[in-house]
Amino acid sequence: MGAAEHPALLIAEQIGALRLLTINRPDKLNAFTPAVIAQLHAALDDALADDDTRMVAITGAGQKAFAAGNDIDGLNTLDPVSAYRDMVAGQQLMLRLHDFPKPTLAMVNGYALGGGFELALSCDFIIAASTARFGFPEITLNTLPGWGGTQLAVKRMGLSRAKQMVLGGQHHSAQECDSFGILQQVVAPEELRARSIAFCEVITRHSGFALEMAKRAMNRAVELPLGTGMELEAANYGVNFGTAEARAGLNAFLTRRSTRAHSAKETSQHQVKA
Ligand code: COA
Repeated sequence: MGAAEHPALLIAEQIGALRLLTINRPDKLNAFTPAVIAQLHAALDDALADDDTRMVAITGAGQKAFAAGNDIDGLNTLDPVSAYRDMVAGQQLMLRLHDFPKPTLAMVNGYALGGGFELALSCDFIIAASTARFGFPEITLNTLPGWGGTQLAVKRMGLSRAKQMVLGGQHHSAQECDSFGILQQVVAPEELRARSIAFCEVITRHSGFALEMAKRAMNRAVELPLGTGMELEAANYGVNFGTAEARAGLNAFLTRRSTRAHSAKETSQHQVKA
């Protein structure tokens, strides 16, 4: 079968400094197979290697789903050891996204269930269409989240809300998840792409290395005592300080200020003379 008969499971687009990745299995609600996961890793490798890419966004193809989770068809044949390995593989993707050196956004266009919700929670930001639905349905299949959901949910929304979602297994609306504090914005479905791109543009105009150092420091904030976290922040600040971009940013500010001071002085001298 030729390549044309195998549509790509992942589509990558470059929009300015943003790399937008679209999971492309709409007929299966973008459920994850090992091939989808491998393509996501490869796309993250590419995005990381490209200095002109400062942020990565992930969405799902079609109107209906961001991603409906792990592909259930492949699950019921797993033995306990392969189930364990499958979960570790999924967790590696989630951990990679969580600690990805460039900021990440989940652009949730529909169902974000199970692994799809875990993937969204692994991103730095979530912007959701008002029609999006979020949930951990695993408990309704007599299983439990296995790609980090129990951990990510607690860290992102607090213990009692996480327990409500994981132990209840229901779908929750974007509006409800917004009230749980896990969404950046809830937007009309037809505005999701433009609003997400605009959101990213505010971030991607900044130095890639400064973004990375700041993200690394903040990611550790939930794990480290305050003083240790601040030590890390100071170290990251120092490392970033050596970059040409940091010097250029500071110099641009100082030049603007001295230009303003100079023209203010000229104006006041002019007024005195007049
Ligand atoms: N794995 C594999 N296939 C999936 C899937 C998943 N996680 N989620 C959806 N699909 C497939 C369906 O089997 C169906 O395929 P088919 O047309 O070949 O039969 C197709 O995607 C469309 O889904 P369908 O169930 O017909 O759509 P719906 O609108 O009736 O329901 C959902 C949508 C999301 C509520 C429903 O698909 C669902 O509950 N999916 C499972 C979600 C889940 O439990 N995820 C956690 C997995 S551990």
